Amino acid sequence: MEQNVTPEITENPSRAAAKKVFVKTYGCQMNVYDSQRMADALASEGYGPTEHIEDADLVLLNTCHIREKAAEKVYSELGRIRLLKEERAKKGWNTVIGVAGCVAQAEGQEILRRAPVVDLVIGPQTYHRLPDVVQRVKSGEKIVETEHAIEDKFEYLPAPQATIVRKRGVTAFLTVQEGCDKFCTFCVVPYTRGAEVSRAVAQIVAEAERLAASGVREVTLLGQNVNAWHGEGPGGIEWGLGRLLFRLAEIPGLDRLRYTTSHPRDMDDELIAAHRDLPELMPYLHLPVQAGSNRILKAMNRRHTADEYLRLIDRIRVARPDIAMSGDFIVGFPGETEEDFEDTMRIVREVGYAQAFSFKYSPRPGTPGAELSEQVPEEVKGERLHRLQALLHEQQRAFAESLVGSTIELLLEKPGRQSGQLVGRSPWLQPVIVDESAGEIGDIVDVRITKAGSNSLFSEPVSVRPAAAQATLAEGGRF
Ligand code: SAH
Ligand code: SF4
Ligand code: F3S
Repeated sequence: MEQNVTPEITENPSRAAAKKVFVKTYGCQMNVYDSQRMADALASEGYGPTEHIEDADLVLLNTCHIREKAAEKVYSELGRIRLLKEERAKKGWNTVIGVAGCVAQAEGQEILRRAPVVDLVIGPQTYHRLPDVVQRVKSGEKIVETEHAIEDKFEYLPAPQATIVRKRGVTAFLTVQEGCDKFCTFCVVPYTRGAEVSRAVAQIVAEAERLAASGVREVTLLGQNVNAWHGEGPGGIEWGLGRLLFRLAEIPGLDRLRYTTSHPRDMDDELIAAHRDLPELMPYLHLPVQAGSNRILKAMNRRHTADEYLRLIDRIRVARPDIAMSGDFIVGFPGETEEDFEDTMRIVREVGYAQAFSFKYSPRPGTPGAELSEQVPEEVKGERLHRLQALLHEQQRAFAESLVGSTIELLLEKPGRQSGQLVGRSPWLQPVIVDESAGEIGDIVDVRITKAGSNSLFSEPVSVRPAAAQATLAEGGRF
């Protein structure tokens, strides 16, 4: 992909005719998944992907609205893109600029006003219409497409081709649920992603089978409230996420399953049983609690107490003792006192997180939290975040250190930064570096952890999986 566009046009007119799309993704994993589906939809219209924005005939920003900083990034990027579009225009090349994702959904028409360089704005519910929208833009229209479609976009989005999946690697995301009905008072997601929708079992299984047949060995099921998924199963019977995981575990070649993000209210017995009974379900759970004070949890409309969260984790740990916990935290929600914040520190100490994400509260327009009077000053939020992150960091470090000397299974994912090395993922989602003699990309191998670095673990090979396991994989159509 390191070619220069100009010589390509003169030397190879047929290639020059191929159009290119550059997609930049912000925000959560669902946006990563959506960006891929948009690229797949555009591929059928003759757009090939490019990693070089200056080569792109179509630039798409897939945006995130979760915090103010995330949304503002889009406008500064659009400023740079305006210059790029002007440069390309001097060479006689047209460039279509599109904004997708949660900022598109939340701001719609306003984006065209603030950034006239934009040609199209498209919300997450209408991605299947993207090829048509791009066509219309080319004939001179500016388009804002943010109405929630009545048709099911997943019925219309084309399935990714095996060749494309192979290029993307041995792990994949699969959206099973989208939208949110919970309305936490700080959060924009129910407004940007709409009401909860669950995809049907048959659709999900078909997509997972296609991924497995293209060489994917680990699938992460996605949803804003993934464990609230309740899809239609065979015979019209409604299934829950636990049952779905049991079904997906049967697919040959799919050796690792994960799901994210879960809400504590929706961890039912069947899902906990899946953690107990399914070796394919990785012992890692992202279960955000946001805060440790019951008063703040109530104001956030999380609909559970700190104690209920702790008891839930106890139950999960009984079912799967080696499970590692991950979470999200918000500091400085309106009205949060020093005492409330200490409750957050306490819950973190009680749980012990292997991984966590923590943020300063960012008031979002249109959410109830933004209207509350007792906003916490920025410097107080900053200071609390600092203390919380120090504790979370220490726990993450301790967890990584606790693995040194043990033998774990590693899914080899890609070449390492240094030649002769490969990088894989531990069951607990940590990147692990190993010598390339350990196996091939796509293999699951045993390694012994030798050292914990700041962002990754180091290891030495122990043994490659028995040949029988590799044979099952080949039957799954990997080669
Ligand atoms: N559905 C998930 C969270 C999705 S948003 C859940 O219920 O937990 C991802 C994370 O962003 C949230 O868990 C929260 O920690 C953070 N977040 C959401 N809105 C925020 C805001 N207004 N300010 C700061 N952080 C926020
Ligand atoms: Fe946002 Fe709450 Fe829904 Fe999660 S559960 S997406 S935090 S409203
Ligand atoms: Fe951001 Fe939308 Fe995801 S707001 S976190 S991209 S659901």
